[in-house]
Amino acid sequence: MSSDKSKQQNAHGEEYKCQDCQDTGALLIKKEVERLDGKKVQQELFEPCHCAEKKKLQRRYKNSLIPDEFENASFKEYQRNTDVQKTLFNATVSYMNKIQSIISEKPELNSLGFIAEFGETTIREMKGEDRYTFKQQHNSFGLGKTHLQMALARYIMESVRVRDTHPDGTEAKHNRGCQVLCISDVTFMEELIQAKMSSDEGKKLQKLVNGACEVDVLVWDDLGKAKWSETKEGLYYQIINERWRHKRPIIFSSNEDQGTLSDKIGYAAASRLFGMTGEENLYEVEGPDYRLQRGKSNV
Ligand SMILES: Nc1ncnc2c1ncn2[C@@H]1O[C@H](COP(=O)(O)OP(=O)(O)OP(=O)(O)O)[C@@H](O)[C@H]1O
Ligand SMILES: [Mg+2]
Ligand SMILES: [Zn+2]
Repeated sequence: MSSDKSKQQNAHGEEYKCQDCQDTGALLIKKEVERLDGKKVQQELFEPCHCAEKKKLQRRYKNSLIPDEFENASFKEYQRNTDVQKTLFNATVSYMNKIQSIISEKPELNSLGFIAEFGETTIREMKGEDRYTFKQQHNSFGLGKTHLQMALARYIMESVRVRDTHPDGTEAKHNRGCQVLCISDVTFMEELIQAKMSSDEGKKLQKLVNGACEVDVLVWDDLGKAKWSETKEGLYYQIINERWRHKRPIIFSSNEDQGTLSDKIGYAAASRLFGMTGEENLYEVEGPDYRLQRGKSNV
């Protein structure tokens, strides 16, 4: 084990990040092995150093694209005072307890969605005074949907293991850490549209779409927030259908309701998405905006 007393340095005079393996990623260990003649002998073997797993986790964090704002969002600091906070918290924890078996067993119901009871688009279409009072009574913003889903994303990267299946149907020898990708609807859809317009025979677009289709767990924040277009509807379908076919989970939040979200992403995509959450994992939520509450308690 490393000790502070004698920190080893590399050829550039810098301390090794991992004192145990001196940044080689491998540890030389002595192990007793039985030879063919039955005699036990000590053999020196290399095994992966503990820091290799840590490095992989750091890479998973980096690739997950969790927004900076939510990098430290945790379950612990999520306050549970109101009914809606309790509902969202319990829903997230209950899904968290199931996610390892979801990844291993690939059930039909594998996703988690937090949506509004009355969608942004529904409320926007109302007129005058009605709209204002209705909006006050049926708020879906600032409930902590994204906060909890990002805490969940971190848990998944740290704790869930995946065993891949080779194309010939056999299982991989070793398991690996679960990969998560967090996308924010407006930014991601805009990126896809830009990529579609670039003159590279669709290479960039395909790369982005494949990334969202193939990652073990996709966290889709603010789903249905982007302005509707036929092209976007096609892209929503492509990604959601592909994940649905392979039973790959989508964890999503939206300020739209079931009806308006379907209008935004298209009925074919919505039918598959809601099929993946089932009724039990689709939460229609409303309540006080934490951003405003926080503002009040500060004065
Ligand atoms: N119960 C809570 N305890 C502690 N912090 C909270 C709680 N709810 C929300 N927050 C914080 O308030 C801010 C807004 O929360 P968040 O963005 O997760 O809400 P949201 O439901 O996703 O809102 P929107 O619909 O606008 O995207 C974040 O900084 C989040 O960390
Ligand atoms: Mg949000
Ligand atoms: Zn090491």
